[in-house]
Order: sequence, then C-alpha cells, then structure tokens
Amino acid sequence: MEQRRLARAQAFTDLVAGAIAGVASLACYGVLWWLLADGGLPLAVGGTAVIAIRTSTAQLTSLVQQVNRLYEELLFLTDTEDAIKVAGENAIPSSGTPLPSPVREVRAEAVSFTYPGARSPSLRNVSVRVPRGKVTALVGANGSGKTTLTKVLAGLLLPTEGTVWWEGESGERVEVREADRAQVFAAVGLLAQDFPRWEMTAAANVAIGIGDRPRDMDRVRKAARDADVLDLIEGLPHGWDSIVFKGYERGVQLSGGQWQKLGTARSRYRQAPFLLVDEPTSALDPHAEIAAFQGLWSLAQEGHAVVLVTHRLAATMNADHIYVLDQGRVVEDGTHDQLMAREGGLYQGMFTAQAAQYGLAPTAGTLPGPRNVQPSEHESAS
Ligand SMILES: Nc1ncnc2c1ncn2[C@@H]1O[C@H](COP(=O)(O)OP(=O)(O)OP(=O)(O)O)[C@@H](O)[C@H]1O
Ligand SMILES: [Mg+2]
Repeated sequence: MEQRRLARAQAFTDLVAGAIAGVASLACYGVLWWLLADGGLPLAVGGTAVIAIRTSTAQLTSLVQQVNRLYEELLFLTDTEDAIKVAGENAIPSSGTPLPSPVREVRAEAVSFTYPGARSPSLRNVSVRVPRGKVTALVGANGSGKTTLTKVLAGLLLPTEGTVWWEGESGERVEVREADRAQVFAAVGLLAQDFPRWEMTAAANVAIGIGDRPRDMDRVRKAARDADVLDLIEGLPHGWDSIVFKGYERGVQLSGGQWQKLGTARSRYRQAPFLLVDEPTSALDPHAEIAAFQGLWSLAQEGHAVVLVTHRLAATMNADHIYVLDQGRVVEDGTHDQLMAREGGLYQGMFTAQAAQYGLAPTAGTLPGPRNVQPSEHESAS
C-alpha cells in the first residue's frame, strides 16, 4: 500500500471529522445559549440538551472515523486486487504441457528478471544448468541475485526475458511458461532463506511441506531424522504435538538453528526431485552444518538435483558446478579447482578471504586473528 496515500487520507478525514463535530457543536451551543438567555427554554431542559449535544457529537465523530476506516480498508482491497492481477500475469498456466518424464535437468537460458516496480533488473542474461544427481552451487555477494535465481528456477518467478527449460532424458524439453503448473511445483522443493514459521504444531510445520495431502507421520519422522531434529522434537513433553511457539498451551520456543533444521525437514518431506536450498545452514553449529551439507550430497547421489545457495565456501569446494553471481550476472562458473585457478577471479578472492580467517590461506598474514599472532619472545625462546 502506498503509505503516503493512506496517511494523507487519514489526515484529511480526521480534519473533516474534527471540523464537522466542532462547527456542529458550536452552532448547537450557540442556539442553546440564545434560547436560555431569551427565557424560551427552562434551565432543566437546557441541561438535558447539553447532554444530547455531547452524545450526538461523539456519535458524529465515531461515524466519520468509521468512514475513515472503510476508506482505509478499500485501499487495501484495491492493492490486493492489483497484486492478484500482477501474480496472474506472472504465473505458470494451471493446465499446460506435462513435463518430460523423467526430467534430466532444468536449464535457464539468457534469463533476465526485473521485480515489478523495480528500476533495474535483478538478473541479467543468466544461463545455468541444474542436472539431477549433482550439486549446483550459487555463490556471490549480498544482493547479487542468488535468491532471485532460485525462485526463477523453481518457477515461482517467470523470467522477464529468456527461458527456463525442463529437459527430459532424450532431450525433449518444455518451457516453464507452457508447463503444467502443478507438475512443476510437485517436482520442486524449496527451502527459502526466510521460510515461514507457522504458529502450529511441530508435526504440522513439517507436513505442510505437502499441505495438500494427508499427513504421513512415518515420512514426517524420516524427514526429521534426516534433518537431525527428530530427537529434539520427540524429546519435548508433547512431542510432535508441541506448538513450536511460546505463549500457547503446549508451546515451546525453538532456537534459530532448531528452526532451520525443522525447515530442512519440511523441504525433505516433499521428496521432490529438484531441491533448492537457500542458505540452509546459516544458523547451524559447525557439526550440524557439516551433517547438513553431507545430507545434501547424499540426496544428489540418490538422483536429486540440488541447488545450494551459500556463503560458506568450504561447502562449495565439493559442489559439482559453481556459478558465481555479481550484480545479477553470472561472471564465473566451473568447479572449485577451475575457479581457484583463475588468478584475480571473484570466487578465488572470496574463498581466499574466508579461508584466511582460519589462517589457512597465503593471505592469512594480512588478516587479524590468533593464527597470525607472531610467537612472543618467551615462546620463541622456549
Ligand atoms: N521482492 C523484491 N522486490 C524488488 N526488488 C527485490 C526483491 N527481492 C530482491 N530484490 C532485489 O533484487 C536484488 C537481488 O536480490 P536477491 O535477494 O536475489 O540477492 P541475494 O544474492 O540472494 O542476496 P543475499 O546474499 O543477501 O541473500 C537486490 O538488489 C534486491 O534489492
Ligand atoms: Mg538471498
């Protein structure tokens, strides 16, 4: 909603309400004073009239406030209608061409994307391949377009220019705009950077991964085990029926990392062949993080396509292919070794800077930290 439009409307109606109520009550009190002074109205009746004037002024003010609220709600309604229209124009058709079976890879070709209302594109001429059985990593600075690209690959955003293809084993392909929406979404699992945290039970928070099917508790438990959160949930006093929000009966407060594991369990529960995970380990402790990355690699070995967005470049070392984004463009791509061999490359620079924090890289001497401290004279002597 356009905040300024709303604020202006509120200020205007408040002014009108104040003015009407003020002028009306002033006029009434004036007439009353004249009638009392003239002797045409007994004092007792005048007292009653004062009460009546005050009551009706309050009611008039309340009426104008109600009109104000109605106008405000109408603005929200108009915005909702606009949002539904824009979403309809940018959505995959509900009954399109079936996807090839089985799908071998998803491929973006020369994709550009500009958010509605944005001045400049968030993705520019991006081409990437996401094959099954592999881990494809997307890395880059904040705001370089990684999350936008995962949403384009997942079919949640349609490219402004360029195409996204779903390719089958024998090379047959369907463009995402013409594909069947239900089939695309059924094939995709997305663990978003800001995934929703529902004020519901732990079981519902996992099973909502496939919200349109009856809950399968065996699968919920398996997904939770894979996400390393099973013991935690089953150890709660109310187990899977615990509401994972404080303030409710049976409510518990989960930590950020525990929520992230629950989110991973939700995306695992979908068992989708294409899994896109956006910063899945940002809140995890080192051991949990290693286990989470190992889990992703074993999913790829089972034949899933895994897209991993991460700033933890130690994890991308083992990715099958890495795309480096910068200001919406893919500026480098290859394996870790290929990218590290590019002298002065963006990936090499990021990796070296991160590794230097642990004193592992040649540039470590330039960064502060315990590993860079020169041994003291005392230590040198001993
Ligand atoms: N809903 C939106 N509407 C308008 N612009 C957006 C929207 N979401 C993202 N952007 C813009 O698109 C660009 C790319 O954002 P994106 O979230 O894809 O970056 P990112 O690489 O995932 O960053 P990070 O590492 O911080 O998660 C940014 O300039 C951002 O401001
Ligand atoms: Mg992001």
